[in-house]
Amino acid sequence: MGMGNGFRIYVLFVALLNLWIVREVAGLGLNISSHGHEHRARFLLDNGIARTPPMGWNSWNHFQCNINETVIKQTADALISTGLARLGYKYVNLDDCWAEGQRDKNGKLVGKKTTFPSGIKSLADYVHAKGLKLGIYGDAGKRTCSDRMPGSLGHEEEDAKTFAEWGIDYIKYDNCFNEGTKNRPRYETMSRALKKAGRPILFSLCEWGQEDPATWAGAYGHIWRTTGDINDTFPSITSIADSNNVWARYAGPGRWNDPDMLEVGNGGMSYEEYKSHFSIWALMKAPLLIGCDVASASKETLSILGNIEVIAVNQDPLGVQGRKIRFKGGLEIWAGPLSRGRLVVVLWNRSHSRKPISFGWREIGLHPLRPCLVRDLWKHKFVAFRRRFRMTAIVGPHACKMYVLIPVR
Ligand SMILES: *[C@@H]1O[C@H](CO)[C@@H](O)[C@H](O)[C@H]1NC(C)=O
Ligand SMILES: *[C@@H]1O[C@H](CO)[C@@H](O)[C@H](O)[C@H]1NC(C)=O
Ligand SMILES: *[C@@H]1O[C@H](CO)[C@@H](O)[C@H](O)[C@H]1NC(C)=O
Repeated sequence: MGMGNGFRIYVLFVALLNLWIVREVAGLGLNISSHGHEHRARFLLDNGIARTPPMGWNSWNHFQCNINETVIKQTADALISTGLARLGYKYVNLDDCWAEGQRDKNGKLVGKKTTFPSGIKSLADYVHAKGLKLGIYGDAGKRTCSDRMPGSLGHEEEDAKTFAEWGIDYIKYDNCFNEGTKNRPRYETMSRALKKAGRPILFSLCEWGQEDPATWAGAYGHIWRTTGDINDTFPSITSIADSNNVWARYAGPGRWNDPDMLEVGNGGMSYEEYKSHFSIWALMKAPLLIGCDVASASKETLSILGNIEVIAVNQDPLGVQGRKIRFKGGLEIWAGPLSRGRLVVVLWNRSHSRKPISFGWREIGLHPLRPCLVRDLWKHKFVAFRRRFRMTAIVGPHACKMYVLIPVR
């Protein structure tokens, strides 16, 4: 009899345990049937690239289709002469319009004869000789967005092979003329083709955030756009920052949310607005791809793009995307953890007048009595050594303050 009871209790125990396991697994949001596949796919292009967000330049925001090998080489030269390359800006990325309108007789993409007469391989050699890397642009559809060159849909393997042969280091892969088909399979096909081509190439998925790529694109590439195109206005910066913020928890070393390339230096915003743009992009661990004409960039522009302390936040090895933690009436507090127990805080005033913004130690995850050194990343000064548990700053319209808090014993 004792045995029987023991058995019944055992059965009950096993049943409860099973129930508990099912609940726990469901609670973690794991999909058992697909998890194994996800796990394998996760390593498809996990090749040591982009352990920190990529940095460099892209031709689109300033030049659109008006590119040629002269201006690309001049930009590579300018990245070196301005010192930006030394700070980490190493990718020189062609955007749309670099190729002939049609494939050659062997079905290969070819550089446009009138604007890239020396060919893309020669351009890659030029850029590599300077210690920089060359990026290129393609499309997961029949044509690219300009409709001036072929897309790679149905030609993924041969195009990936061509890019690898030329010595390409980075590909931004757009989503125009996709014939209304699902994005994910077309991006997966290119990811597999790049893997097969054998050269480590950074894969940037540009499907504009349509199918919530944060939830799957890390399996296929290194960065993924979370939104539509940026433009050189303050409303564009604020709306893109908010959309990108939603996906923060999916970012990490080797896989980053991409809120699109920088507009700093293109002339549509004020100095303070560009500083806010750059600060928030850095805090969000966004790729830092310069979008202005580097060769003619002003001192002011270079002082923003070249802020070594803000860049260090972006490139911090912990690789956690900072988030918006509180906002009211256009006054916002963004924060995130950094390596060695430090924290970054951005106080951002989106509105039209000067106002004080305060934050407390506790709301950014610090013990209220923890003394901290506070570094102002735009003034390049320690603000104070604080035992206090709060801090307040006066912030101008559309401006921000950016601090690193260094807890001390
Ligand atoms: C689980 O994965 C399978 C196979 O990929 C898929 O068909 C199904 O929709 C997924 N279920 C959920 C709840 O995500
Ligand atoms: C190359 O492009 C730049 C930028 O659009 C332009 O200013 C320049 O005239 C072009 N050069 C040639 C040789 O086409
Ligand atoms: C720029 O982006 C903002 C915000 O998305 C949008 O409202 C505006 O229409 C865009 N402006 C241009 C010129 O595309």
